[in-house]
Formats: sequence, C-alpha cells, structure tokens
Amino acid sequence: MGDLDGRIALVTGAATGLGAATARALAAAGATVAVTDLAAPDALAAEIGGIARAQDVSSEADWAATMTWIKSEAGGLDILVNNAGLWLFKPITETTLDDWRRLHAVNVEGVFLGTRAAIPLLAERAHLWRGGTAIVNLSSVAGIEGAAGATCYNSTKGAVRLFTKGCAKELAAARIRVNSVHPGVIDTQMGRKLVDDFALAQGIGDNEVLAQVAAMHPLGHLGAPQNVADAVVFLASDRAAFTTGSELVVDGGLTA
Ligand SMILES: NC(=O)c1ccc[n+]([C@@H]2O[C@H](COP(=O)([O-])OP(=O)(O)OC[C@H]3O[C@@H](n4cnc5c(N)ncnc54)[C@H](O)[C@@H]3O)[C@@H](O)[C@H]2O)c1
Repeated sequence: MGDLDGRIALVTGAATGLGAATARALAAAGATVAVTDLAAPDALAAEIGGIARAQDVSSEADWAATMTWIKSEAGGLDILVNNAGLWLFKPITETTLDDWRRLHAVNVEGVFLGTRAAIPLLAERAHLWRGGTAIVNLSSVAGIEGAAGATCYNSTKGAVRLFTKGCAKELAAARIRVNSVHPGVIDTQMGRKLVDDFALAQGIGDNEVLAQVAAMHPLGHLGAPQNVADAVVFLASDRAAFTTGSELVVDGGLTA
C-alpha cells in the first residue's frame, strides 16, 4: 500500500529535473500521474504507467484543455504540482522588460492559472481523503532570500511563496491544502545552468564554482532531485493533513 494509492496527480514541467523525479516518486507512492511539458513527456508517462500531454503553463487556454483532458482520461484530480519554471541570471540593468515578463509569465502566471483551473476538480474529490486534496508549488530559496544577479527570479519565487499562503487560507474551507517547496541548488539542468552562469560572471571554471556552490549548503553538496520529490510526496499525502500554507525548505541548511 502506498501513501498515494487512488490519487490522481498532475506534474507540470515534468520532462526533466525535479518534475520528472517528482512524477516518478508520486507514481511509486501509488498515484496515477499525468505529466506535461512544452513537448509531451511520453517516454516518462510510459515508464510510470501515467499519461502525457503537451502544455505551456503560461497559456490560459492550455490549462482549460489540460483540466478537460485529465478529467476525461484519469477521472479527476487530487494533487497538482506547479513545477514548470525558468531561471534567469542577469544584473537588473541588463534585464529587459521582455525577460521580466517571460519569467513572470511562466513562474508566476503559470502557478496562478494552474491553481485557478484546478480548484473545481480538486474540490470535487477533497472529501475522499483525510487530508483533502493538495497543491504543491515549486518556489526556491530564492523566494526567501535575495541573490545579486537573480532579482527577476527572486521576484517570481517570492510571489509564489506568498500566493501559496493566500491560497492556503482561501481554499482551506474547500479542504484543498496549498504548500510551497523551497529547494537549494539541486543537480538538474537548471542547477547546472546556475553553475555555468556563476562561472561566467566570476571568470572562473565550472568545477571551482561547483565547489563554491556545494559549500554554500552546510550539508556540503548540491541536492538531488529525489530530495525535492520526497518533500512533494509528503506534502501531497495525508501525512501532511494538518499542513497548509507552509514553506518546506529542502536546502541542505542554506537558509538556516
Ligand atoms: N534546480 C534547482 O536548483 C532549483 C532550485 C530551486 C527551485 N527550482 C525550481 O524547481 C522547478 C523545476 O526546476 P528544474 O531544476 O527541474 O528545472 P529544469 O530547467 O531542469 O526543468 C524545467 C522544466 O520546465 C519546463 N518548462 C519551462 N517552461 C515551461 C512552460 N512554459 N510550460 C511548461 N513547461 C515548461 C522545461 O521544458 C523543463 O522540462 C522550477 O520551478 C525551478 O524554478 C529549481
């Protein structure tokens, strides 16, 4: 028996990185998992016995179509993981309005649109589970602490953090729990891009920066995607039945 037997979950941005690890972990815990990304993650869906669809999280129409699809293909929705996101490392003076809008369209508007679209389906099945249904939003340590060169990303992840808390209060009566996860630097394509960007900015090699970034985390290394996936599974499950509006840091002590 898994913690999530009988649950139907949707993970956005699931083609790679934290989304793919989370989809695998939700499936291992017993959930039926729908995975979406800009291109449908068909191979992952086949691997975990789930379903896949192409979806741009910044598109309102795509969210409506995705909800219709999951209702007809899987029968409803119990867990939404708003994972898709973009990284940007640029000084403010070099950040264009297009950069700013592109990042906010995916990282912030995508979370708003997904939450709003999923509420009717999540409310419909909330009575089935002791801990109701759940939304888990991927914020970041960058949604808690500022970082020079990452101000636009800070803005998006800070917005996700407080949007999550407001939603937790507004949706509690419908028995929908809403929590955010705040990873430190995790070894994914995005984590590697961050290392490349820091290396370029400091004019030093990737290996040197990798050591620096590892040392920023008191536990002494980058996180693994599985570390974040485990936190998402916990927040999605009845083990977190009294947990809503919380910010779960998975950062090796970075913000401690
Ligand atoms: N890796 C880290 O160190 C780290 C740390 C803190 C927070 N996060 C957050 O965790 C989430 C996942 O990060 P990751 O490291 O797996 O990133 P990643 O870049 O490795 O993967 C992100 C996925 O999102 C998809 N995506 C991008 N724009 C999209 C859109 N408009 N619609 C649908 N899908 C889209 C990409 O195609 C990609 O598959 C992001 O929200 C990120 O900001 C990551």
